Amino acid sequence: MLKSDILKKLKEKNDYVSGQDLCEEFGVSRTAVWKAVNNLKKEGFLIDSVTNKGYLLRESEDVFSKASLESAIETKWLGKKLCFFDEIDSTNTELKRMAETGEVENGTLAITENQTKGRGRRGREWKTIVGTNIAMSFILKPEFAPDRASMLTILAAMAIAEGTKNAAGVQCQIKWPNDVLINKKKYCGILTEMSAEPDFIHYVIVGIGINANTTEFPKEVEDIATSICRECGEKISRAKLVNEVLKAFERIYKDFEKSCDLSNILISYNKMLVSMGKKVRVLDPKGEFEGISRGINKEGELLVETSEGIVNVYAGEVSVRGIYGYGE
Ligand code: BTN
Repeated sequence: MLKSDILKKLKEKNDYVSGQDLCEEFGVSRTAVWKAVNNLKKEGFLIDSVTNKGYLLRESEDVFSKASLESAIETKWLGKKLCFFDEIDSTNTELKRMAETGEVENGTLAITENQTKGRGRRGREWKTIVGTNIAMSFILKPEFAPDRASMLTILAAMAIAEGTKNAAGVQCQIKWPNDVLINKKKYCGILTEMSAEPDFIHYVIVGIGINANTTEFPKEVEDIATSICRECGEKISRAKLVNEVLKAFERIYKDFEKSCDLSNILISYNKMLVSMGKKVRVLDPKGEFEGISRGINKEGELLVETSEGIVNVYAGEVSVRGIYGYGE
C-alpha cells in the first residue's frame, strides 16, 4: 500500500513533497520511501527527485498498475480489495476460481493489463489489446433472489455510461442488454455470470471489457468497434475511468438494493437506449419476429411492440438486432 499512498499524496500535492514529510505521514523509513518511489518510476511514473526539495510527480503516460489503481479508486467498498494481474487468462475466470477455492470479499475487483483468454457472451472470444484496454471483473454476494441477477448487467451498463461521462465527458448509448456504445459503435461489453441455487445466490461476477484508448482494432470488428480515444482523439487515464465506473456502480447498486427493480434508473436508461423507437428483430429460438423497441421496463425486459401487441423480451432467452446495422 505504501506505493499507492505515496502516489496519491504526490498527485494531491501537485508540487514537491519532501522525503521527510512522506516518512512522517506514513510512519516509514527514508529507505522505504526511496524504494517505493523507485518502484513507481520502474512502473512508468515520471517522478523528479531533487535534493532539499523532495519528489515531484510529472504528467505521466497512462500507467496501469496496482498502485495507479489504488491511488485513483475512491469508492467505499467496490474494488477496495483489488487483485491486479500483469497477465491472466480471464478476470471472470480468475474470480470464479477464487470464489470456488476460498473466501472472496463482496466487491473484490480483479483487473489485468493483459487478458489472454477473454470470454464474451454466448461462448465468444473477447480480445484485449495490451496497454489500451480495460479488462476487469468484480464479485457481488447479494441477498436478493437469483431472478434479479440479470438486472446487474443493466446496472453495469448504466454505470459505464455514467462513469465515461464523468471521466471523459463522452456521451454513451446502450445496446440492450450488455453493450455500451459511442457514436453507435461498440465501446464496451459486459459478461455477467452467476453461481446460485434456485432461491439463493452464491455470487455474481460482473465482467467489463472497455476499449479505452485503442486506436487499431482487429479486422473483423474494425467497423463496429470504437474507443474513447478514437472518438475524441485524446487518451484517457484508465485508472481514472475505472474509478468513475466503480463509483457510479456503487451509487446505482445502493438504490437497486432497496427496490430490487430498475425503477430508479428507468428514465435515464431508456434515454440512452440506442434501439428506442426503432425497428428491431428478435431472434427468439421459438421464432424470429420484428417490432418497434419501446424501451425496458423495471424488470429489465425489453418491450417490443408488434402487430399483436407488446411482447416482453427477456435478456437470457433471445438476441435482439437493430435492422439497419450494428448500432441501430
Ligand atoms: C461481450 O460483449 O460479449 C462481453 C465481453 C466481456 C469481456 C470482459 S473483459 C473482463 C471480463 N473477463 C472476461 O473474460 N470477460 C469479461
